[in-house]
Amino acid sequence: MKFFIQTFGCQMNVNESQKVEALLLGHGLERAETPESSDVLLINTCSVREKPERKVFSFVGRLKAPGRIIGVMGCVAQQYGERMTERERAIDFVIGTQNLHRVPEILETVLRDKSKRVETRFYSPETSLEIFKAPLTSPKVSSYVTIMQGCDRFCSYCIVPFVRGRERSRPSSEVLEEVKALAEKGVKEIILLGQNVNRYGMDRGNDLTFPQLLRKIDSIEKIARVRFVTSHPASLDDETIRLFGELESICESIHLPFQSGSDRVLKMMGRGYSRALYLEKIEKLREIQPEIALSADVMVGFPGETEEDFKETLSLLETVQFDTLFSFRYTPRPMTRAAEYPNQIPEEVKLERLQTLQALQSEITLKMNRLQVGKVKKVLVEKPSKRPDRFMMGRTRDNRVVNFEGPSDLVGREIEVRIIKGYQNSLLGKMEEHHVY
Ligand code: SAM
Ligand code: SF4
Ligand code: F3S
Repeated sequence: MKFFIQTFGCQMNVNESQKVEALLLGHGLERAETPESSDVLLINTCSVREKPERKVFSFVGRLKAPGRIIGVMGCVAQQYGERMTERERAIDFVIGTQNLHRVPEILETVLRDKSKRVETRFYSPETSLEIFKAPLTSPKVSSYVTIMQGCDRFCSYCIVPFVRGRERSRPSSEVLEEVKALAEKGVKEIILLGQNVNRYGMDRGNDLTFPQLLRKIDSIEKIARVRFVTSHPASLDDETIRLFGELESICESIHLPFQSGSDRVLKMMGRGYSRALYLEKIEKLREIQPEIALSADVMVGFPGETEEDFKETLSLLETVQFDTLFSFRYTPRPMTRAAEYPNQIPEEVKLERLQTLQALQSEITLKMNRLQVGKVKKVLVEKPSKRPDRFMMGRTRDNRVVNFEGPSDLVGREIEVRIIKGYQNSLLGKMEEHHVY
């Protein structure tokens, strides 16, 4: 029996899909090459905005076929529960965010009893972290490690705390065990995942804090690079900031969402920091690590956002000069406070603001990439590049994609590459001679 997992949403979902894949392989199922050739189609879903949510139903609509078992898991599954099977009869089972470790068992009963199953319970902290114990079967050069689940911040626009549950950290012993196992399998780069990684361990009494965890991971041999997402501006502490200048493994890049440049909007969002505090964190980061690359998330069209507020967001972009920016149009989400706020912004205004913002950021990103030309950068080689032929793709420590001509046996190695051109989304480089580590 062949299965295919289609993943929508964030890195957390990508990581969890990998783990579910490992569970299913362990139960004797085989991977299908395409969704069309699968007997069991699993869809891991995202409900953070309206668009990814709609994608799920259109995807099922396109791929339903007689005899094909369809399971929906993740955040939309958690949000809708059994309403999913009512809306789309081709769905055979629905598995919420805290039940992913049960996929094989649930699939077995669906196949045996030819009945539908819906499992969206929330569990005790320990049980709901079970999924993470699944072994990774095909680790790559870079691997995700989830260190915590859920979120307690309840920003007024965000559905995540409702579909992911309360904040729960994995025991540090388990995290370190997983990192060591990945290192043994040849993984060179670890990306730690959580909705607010700076709060790691705070729910676990005397377990390690986030900076303590980073120190322990740094001491694991063979792990050359560590990254983490997502940091929250209100929780990013000075001790963690100092580690950017201290620990060799911590890469010179940080993702620090700001959402809006206006204090009025930040307050309505319930973000817990001001524009000034955000800029202070950026200043400290750049002081400790002048080479640090900055990325962030931002939203336009939050209810009540005026032209003035929007201009403050644009001015924050100008001030900070982000290397990369992920920008979104606000969409109301069920269960969230902001969905009930007055002064929802018309779609055409949101779209216009988004276009203005993206045009400004494109210029900044291109400028930042062009500034790399002439520098020699350490690149961790990940895989053959999509094109052209004979080119390899890797990443710099400041998280830029570099394509360069080189042999495929460089995968997993760190090499020195001279940057010769900067594009919108990547750099072109040339290998320096005699500089393979
Ligand atoms: N925990 C992270 C944080 O606090 O920044 C990221 C959370 S969320 C999974 C990823 C991004 O989606 C957010 O940073 C935000 O910009 C965006 N987002 C969340 N809710 C949204 C909504 N209702 N409409 C549009 N964008 C949204
Ligand atoms: Fe959502 Fe805010 Fe939690 Fe991020 S911190 S997941 S935006 S509630
Ligand atoms: Fe989406 Fe769930 Fe991640 S809502 S962004 S897949 S935590």
